[in-house]
Amino acid sequence: MAFLSDDLVSLRGMRREDLTLYRGWIDNADVTRFMEMGWKPFSDFDLEKTYVEATQALDAVVMVIEERESGKAIGTTGLYLINWPGRRAQFRILIGEPTLFGKGYGTAATRLTVRYGFDRLNLETIYLGANTENKGAVRAYEKAGFSVDGVQPHFVYNNGRYYDSVMMSITRDRYLAAVSGP
Ligand SMILES: CC(C)(COP(=O)(O)OP(=O)(O)OC[C@H]1O[C@@H](n2cnc3c(N)ncnc32)[C@H](O)[C@@H]1OP(=O)(O)O)[C@@H](O)C(=O)NCCC(=O)NCCS
Repeated sequence: MAFLSDDLVSLRGMRREDLTLYRGWIDNADVTRFMEMGWKPFSDFDLEKTYVEATQALDAVVMVIEERESGKAIGTTGLYLINWPGRRAQFRILIGEPTLFGKGYGTAATRLTVRYGFDRLNLETIYLGANTENKGAVRAYEKAGFSVDGVQPHFVYNNGRYYDSVMMSITRDRYLAAVSGP
């Protein structure tokens, strides 16, 4: 049963049987190409930590993205480091199969997660950091309403070099203005 959905994707809670898939996603260098994850093989311990965070943490809401048409699990999305007094959270997302990049799934899941963060969790700000070279990610975030706050130079290390990191956010006001239309 989906928790949230639109035409393209559904979001639901993580289940133990998702973990094998998840390990494959993180261990795939084409998936983590622009990320700091993936620098060592994902262990059983890492998997257990992921599952505990996804199912028990009080400062995170982690959901599995399913392709609506097939019902297949294709990635994860979530709000992390939720600061309840400050009402802010960090957004993270991963589509786990490169053949599924660029089909709109990332934007759709981002939009659903942002809507959930503001409407259901009553957040004030959702923020993220992304490798500036991850153009598809930045574009997907912009389409979902995030805007650029600044750039942290020389910040993300991946596979032999440092990259600049773009900091993006969306505030509740901007979200409400966007959903209420012109
Ligand atoms: C980043 C990610 C979530 C984006 O999701 P996605 O489903 O691939 O993205 P979408 O199809 O929704 O949107 C991508 C947009 O970027 C554009 N894009 C893709 N590659 C691009 C590039 N090299 N330059 C410019 N634009 C690019 C696409 O054309 C599309 O925009 P459009 O709809 O206006 O044409 C997904 O690719 C992913 O999970 N990648 C691996 C993990 C990762 O990098 N996570 C993010 C860490 S910050």
